[in-house]
Amino acid sequence: MCGIVGYTGPSQAAPILLEGLAKLEYRGYDSAGLAVRDGSALAEVVKATGKLAHLADKTDQGRALPGTCGIGHTRWATHGDPSMVNAHPHVSGNCSGSGSGTVESDVVGVHNGIIENFAELKDKLLRHGYQFYSDTDTEVVVKLVDYYYNKYRIGPVDAINRMMVRVRGSYALALMFKDYPGEIYAARKDSPLIIGVADDAAYLASDVPAILKHTRSVYYIGNQQAARVCPGQVTFYDLNGDEIQLPQTEITWDAEAAEKGGYEHFMLKEIHEQPAAVRDTLKSLLKDGALSLADTGLTDETLQGLGQIEIVACGSAWHVGMAAQYVIEDLAGVPVRVELASEYRYRNAPVPKNTLMVVISQSGETADSLAALRVARERGLETLAVVNVIGSTIAREADHVLYTVAGPEIAVATTKAYSAQLIALDALAVRLAAVRGAISEEEVQRLTDELAAIPDKISRILEDKDRIQWFSSKIANAHDIFFIGRGLDYAISLEGSLKMKEISYIHSEAYAAGELKHGTISLIENNTLVVGVLTQPKLFEKTVSNMAECKARGAYLMGLTTHGNYAVEDSVDFTVYVPKTDEHFVPSLAVIPLQLLGYYTSVNRGLDVDKPRNLAKSVTVE
Ligand code: AGP
Repeated sequence: MCGIVGYTGPSQAAPILLEGLAKLEYRGYDSAGLAVRDGSALAEVVKATGKLAHLADKTDQGRALPGTCGIGHTRWATHGDPSMVNAHPHVSGNCSGSGSGTVESDVVGVHNGIIENFAELKDKLLRHGYQFYSDTDTEVVVKLVDYYYNKYRIGPVDAINRMMVRVRGSYALALMFKDYPGEIYAARKDSPLIIGVADDAAYLASDVPAILKHTRSVYYIGNQQAARVCPGQVTFYDLNGDEIQLPQTEITWDAEAAEKGGYEHFMLKEIHEQPAAVRDTLKSLLKDGALSLADTGLTDETLQGLGQIEIVACGSAWHVGMAAQYVIEDLAGVPVRVELASEYRYRNAPVPKNTLMVVISQSGETADSLAALRVARERGLETLAVVNVIGSTIAREADHVLYTVAGPEIAVATTKAYSAQLIALDALAVRLAAVRGAISEEEVQRLTDELAAIPDKISRILEDKDRIQWFSSKIANAHDIFFIGRGLDYAISLEGSLKMKEISYIHSEAYAAGELKHGTISLIENNTLVVGVLTQPKLFEKTVSNMAECKARGAYLMGLTTHGNYAVEDSVDFTVYVPKTDEHFVPSLAVIPLQLLGYYTSVNRGLDVDKPRNLAKSVTVE
């Protein structure tokens, strides 16, 4: 959600900023803008609604904007509609129009996050003579910094610190001050922001891909910390204005990992990267051939003493939790509750002692998941984060971290990060069961071997993707699709349904198959597509019966099951098989055809697969 970039150095800034913004497009946006300075007191501000290409056209790919210091932004609207006037950057000076053109303003800034008390702050600033041209909370925060800067005649860092004490909410901010040419000031709380220094230049960005071409060494600014970014140099400050040292983190993945690498879309590339993501994640949890959680810092004593596990997450990560619930309870006998982070944070559910809270998040920045983690820590729970992005806020704030090794995921619809999370939770379940003596050593070895075989089985499914492509062309005009299953098959249905709706815009629902006749079956009409997930031996016949009930009301049926269950072809219109594995681990295989189904349906409908409308990759607002 929203992307921020900044550059100061010897080169022309605007082309570098546009290139960086292009790498952040996956975050989701509806308008974009740049502010560039050439050393004078003036800043050139250019904004455009819609695609980044409009901004690039307006500035001749950035070449028309002179200046070697600048900031850029892609905006995902929160306060105020997606329009020129609300697009960033915003300026502190009173001006008419949209705050763009050549402006002489003490402060110019871009922001990612939400300022919760912006209305109250706006009133205060109005009383002090400030005028506002936009509906954004960002204009308020830029003007608030300006207010402190001018009222107390203090430097940028002190003005920013006063602002940080006064505002509530989340922010990553990049600001330029008229009196400090060639410098960018940054501050953050709960929204991502990184800084990289290379030779005689320095870069800011919301995420690594935007600056990876220039440097692999990055700094993660902490909450309520500020930075002064100069060519070739960065200085960090705490809330008192005292200088602090921050460690540098080396990014280990290649720039190519964040490129399409010959695939038509990031999503298709990431679907194909799943064997590697699963293999690498599993490898990171194997020590001498045995599953181990030692690197997370979770001790065997903690695992043995657990009375309950609470899994908290959003979207697909929550679906991973739903699947893990069945596996952990079945293998290890530990009760599991799975909560939506957005609900958990406002509930006051009593929590039994010896509860481990597991937060699952690809980005490690999802606002609701982060807030839930903080609530759990306040309640004194031990916390484990299952996170893909190294150094992200959730990873830094949890007691223990289990990193999935999926590499950068760019497509908004998650695929490889989901699969990496799933295998990580399966490994956790097996290790938990082993440590608690819930299963024999032979069973632990058998399950470990089954997990190790998953990547090759995913590859085999991918080799047969043409069938799904053909089927998706038949269903691309569907109005409604229902995904049904029981137990783990219900968890897979949830993910299959989300994959379909988020990128194809076809209405779809996932239902526990037994629930259909309690209301949903009234929605079944002639030719409504019902996808039945039928991988669990004990539940197979039950779900087939529920599908037959849909068929009797005109539904068109697709069955998804494991090789060997060929009798299903008598009951459904189209069947997809995945290789056999232990029943606990089938979601890792069954989800692949459903990802492909969503992908090809989106392609067949001519939609923007990687950047679906209204969605953002990392949801950093509540
Ligand atoms: C799934 O395709 C979505 N992009 C979304 O549901 C996502 O899983 C959710 O927003 C959670 O994100 P996180 O894993 O980064 O916390």
